[in-house]
Amino acid sequence: MSAATNFRLDLTRRPRRMRRTASLRALAQETDLHPHNLIQPVFVIDGDGAPEPIESMPGISRMTIPQLIEEARALLGLGIPAIALFPKLDASLKSDDGREALNPDTLVLRAIRALKAELPEMAVITDLALDPYTTHGHDGLYDVSCGDLANDATVEVLAEMAVLAAEAGVDLVAPSDMMDGRVGAIREALDGNGFDKTGIMAYSAKFASAFYGPFRDAVGSAGSAGTHHLDKRTYQLNPGNRREALMEAALDEAEGADILMVKPAGPYLDIIREVREETELPLAAYQVSGEYAQIMAAAERGWLDLERCRDESLLAIRRAGADMILTYFAKDFALGSR
Ligand code: PBG
Repeated sequence: MSAATNFRLDLTRRPRRMRRTASLRALAQETDLHPHNLIQPVFVIDGDGAPEPIESMPGISRMTIPQLIEEARALLGLGIPAIALFPKLDASLKSDDGREALNPDTLVLRAIRALKAELPEMAVITDLALDPYTTHGHDGLYDVSCGDLANDATVEVLAEMAVLAAEAGVDLVAPSDMMDGRVGAIREALDGNGFDKTGIMAYSAKFASAFYGPFRDAVGSAGSAGTHHLDKRTYQLNPGNRREALMEAALDEAEGADILMVKPAGPYLDIIREVREETELPLAAYQVSGEYAQIMAAAERGWLDLERCRDESLLAIRRAGADMILTYFAKDFALGSR
């Protein structure tokens, strides 16, 4: 069949006109993705050993504090304004009640101090949750009497962790535990201790997702619990629930969150869009470890194009309405977009 034919449709609208050349496509592009939209999550370890590659997250390694400083310097140079710190503790420091989290010299606090001393302009974010510190790998204090996490007692610990992180110089604390009332309690504790400039990035709609598996290897919360499939359904959201996600976002906003977050990102684009339409606050989305791992694994097999799938997955999260994205691809994207 030949392209030269006399057949002509009588069309007023030919949307393909605006897709004809790269320049026209660029002019009509509605959503952009820049390194300054991205936050790089990083895993921190103690000591002075070599970086430890994480098997289920190719390209990502746990780093010591000196390595972290160099990495942060490189990220800033690439235009990435923020990092989110996740400590991986030695098993000997974990306990039932996660008391190491309140050690004023614990690993993550030393990492914050070192970063803020060397690179004060970099925004530093830390998770508030007990999972790196507990032997059972849960995000809070486990109450054996009811076989569940003790909500209010956990919130009390999180608020103390927030004050310690603020003292160390953190820019934003990010409660990732999903206890009720924690954002308000953390705000009050911060303000009560003179840290009214320390912000709260609330994991507002954090779903009980199987996509967190590789992260649990990275921080060792799966190892300590003996399973990837740690059941967090009594506190994280049911993946089938959108109204409940909107309610959580509204509560965090009312309690004083500075940034709301939806997590995971890719499988929850509808939630990102709906939260975007309900709030004037900045909105973050977390492209989690399993979302990263599935693209990496398929690319390693030659089944997907790594760069294009990476960029498309991130652009889709922006299009859904996220201002900023926590993603393990942050550095890689920034390197590719120079
Ligand atoms: C723990 C926490 C998790 C993640 C961030 N903070 C895992 C979990 O809830 O078990 C997941 C991040 C990822 O998968 O990349 N409070």
